[in-house]
Amino acid sequence: RHLHRIFSGIQPTGNLTLGNYLGAIRNWVTLQHEFECIYCVVDQHALTVGPEPSALREATRQVAAALIACGIDPQKNVLFNQSQNPDHTELAWYFNCVARMGWLNRMTQFKEKAGKNRENASTGLFVYPNLMAADILAYRATHVPVGEDQKQHLELARDIAIKFNNDWKVEDFFPVVEPQILGEATRVMSLRDGTAKMSKSDPSDMSRINLTDDADTIAKKIKKAKTDPENLPTEKAGFEGRPEAQNLVTIYAALTGTTVDQALADIGGSQFGAFKQKLADAAVAHLSPITTEMNRLLEDRAEIDRLLVKGGERARALSAPVLKDVRETLGL
Ligand code: ADP
Ligand code: NA
Repeated sequence: RHLHRIFSGIQPTGNLTLGNYLGAIRNWVTLQHEFECIYCVVDQHALTVGPEPSALREATRQVAAALIACGIDPQKNVLFNQSQNPDHTELAWYFNCVARMGWLNRMTQFKEKAGKNRENASTGLFVYPNLMAADILAYRATHVPVGEDQKQHLELARDIAIKFNNDWKVEDFFPVVEPQILGEATRVMSLRDGTAKMSKSDPSDMSRINLTDDADTIAKKIKKAKTDPENLPTEKAGFEGRPEAQNLVTIYAALTGTTVDQALADIGGSQFGAFKQKLADAAVAHLSPITTEMNRLLEDRAEIDRLLVKGGERARALSAPVLKDVRETLGL
């Protein structure tokens, strides 16, 4: 009964990383040719970490520019920032009343982000997955392309959809959304430590490659990336206990458009020094046109703002009938 419709979001909380690009944005670009896609810069989610207002506004524009520079067409897709459409936060309130404390207590990302001082974490950080479910279901989106780190939140969105449909006896009202975890690099790890994910919110800039890093910075970061004393393995089994090697080869495969097996057939057995040079070249070849285009777009910030407002109007036109149905269903 539901149209195949794609929704995905990204937080404007800092520089976009190679992890965001390989795990999510690149797949968004591919999907736009086949499906109706709604892509959102989720600026209200960013409030969970309390950014400075002018920095948040600028980060929203930067992320929008980055998405367009990566190949997201703002005419073909609905591209906007979350705060343009209040339907998300309204639906999130209803979902706060559907989701259970126990469900949210299991979210590993909350535990990681809140750290030891849980009593001092904002309630927004705790219920953020409910807002994420609302972002998706306000459009009755059926498919959500994300990196592996978002899998648990997607399961929560499925549970919310199922419980809403059951509790109000409205069969199929919300679709049971499917995560789409696509490509070779679904979980890009930090360059400092192959066991933490590469993240724009990591305090160490050396831990990640930013989409805006210049060629020298990329080369320097890759050169300094943590490795071990062995040469690269010749097959996947050789990654056992070597997360840094696995991470760098996975990134290389994703950037050069091959599988990890094919990449190892080509570079397996080489020394890290030589391999890192190849990896840096591949990263620069891929990212430098994106950076150039992003900088060009950012010369006209007013135009980016206009595009986002237009996208917001299109988004609201899609969610308004859904919210009307929801209110009616709830007795509001
Ligand atoms: P971050 O975690 O960098 O703050 P977001 O939470 O805004 O980024 O996530 C935006 C998208 O990028 C999500 O689909 C997420 O799964 C994906 N993503 C983020 N980090 C990585 C990573 N290290 N590897 C693969 N995908 C990632
Ligand atoms: Na994330």
